[in-house]
Amino acid sequence: MTEIDRCPRIETERLVLRKWEERDLEGLAELNADPQVMEFYPSVLSRAESEKMLARYMDAQQQYGFCFSVITQKGSGRFLGYCGLKVPGYQQHLSFAPCVEIGWRLLHCEWGKGIATEAAQMWLRFGLETLQLNEIVSFTPVQNSRSEKLMQRLGMVCVEEFEHPMLEDGHRLKRQVLYKMTRQRYLGQGYD
Ligand SMILES: CC(C)(COP(=O)(O)OP(=O)(O)OC[C@H]1O[C@@H](n2cnc3c(N)ncnc32)[C@H](O)[C@@H]1OP(=O)(O)O)[C@@H](O)C(=O)NCCC(=O)NCCS
Repeated sequence: MTEIDRCPRIETERLVLRKWEERDLEGLAELNADPQVMEFYPSVLSRAESEKMLARYMDAQQQYGFCFSVITQKGSGRFLGYCGLKVPGYQQHLSFAPCVEIGWRLLHCEWGKGIATEAAQMWLRFGLETLQLNEIVSFTPVQNSRSEKLMQRLGMVCVEEFEHPMLEDGHRLKRQVLYKMTRQRYLGQGYD
């Protein structure tokens, strides 16, 4: 039996979604160095840290078949950010693990155009319909209203607020919202 590609190349109206490659380092380093993009992460990342992140993502891509996915502009191939499915690297610490999460990070100049929604809709459908996952979760600090609004646009449901186990007590980002989309709910919504 042929094994299913868990991170296929997908084309949408405006985007190409694909696996990570070495050439994505420039775009990723730019993304991770921007304080506006990284406002709801512990800190911006140096180029060396982005290099390590890319290596980790490419390893996880090998191990799980996916680790988020690159978003490029259709036609130009320009790096816009990432979005997709991922198994959190600190699974053992999460009360709702085992889980597959959906996540996103876009260059600031690409916000407000519906790009994250366009990409995330594809990965939700792929995860729940093709990979037959029972559910996909997403979480973000309570202050990150743009990310939470995206979860709501996707039809995900807020399950709880929780304390992120990887952040120390009192950290400004420790309180997070957890959203979920189950396969049952997704199929019941009548997406075509
Ligand atoms: C979270 C993040 C991806 C959301 O980006 P976004 O641009 O708000 O989301 P979308 O790409 O789905 O765009 C939706 C917006 O585009 C508008 N829009 C314009 N054209 C559109 C179109 N053709 N289709 C859909 N929406 C469109 C929508 O009205 C909406 O605007 P609003 O913010 O005024 O409501 C972005 O803020 C980001 O990268 N943040 C930094 C990283 C981060 O915090 N990630 C999450 C960590 S948990």
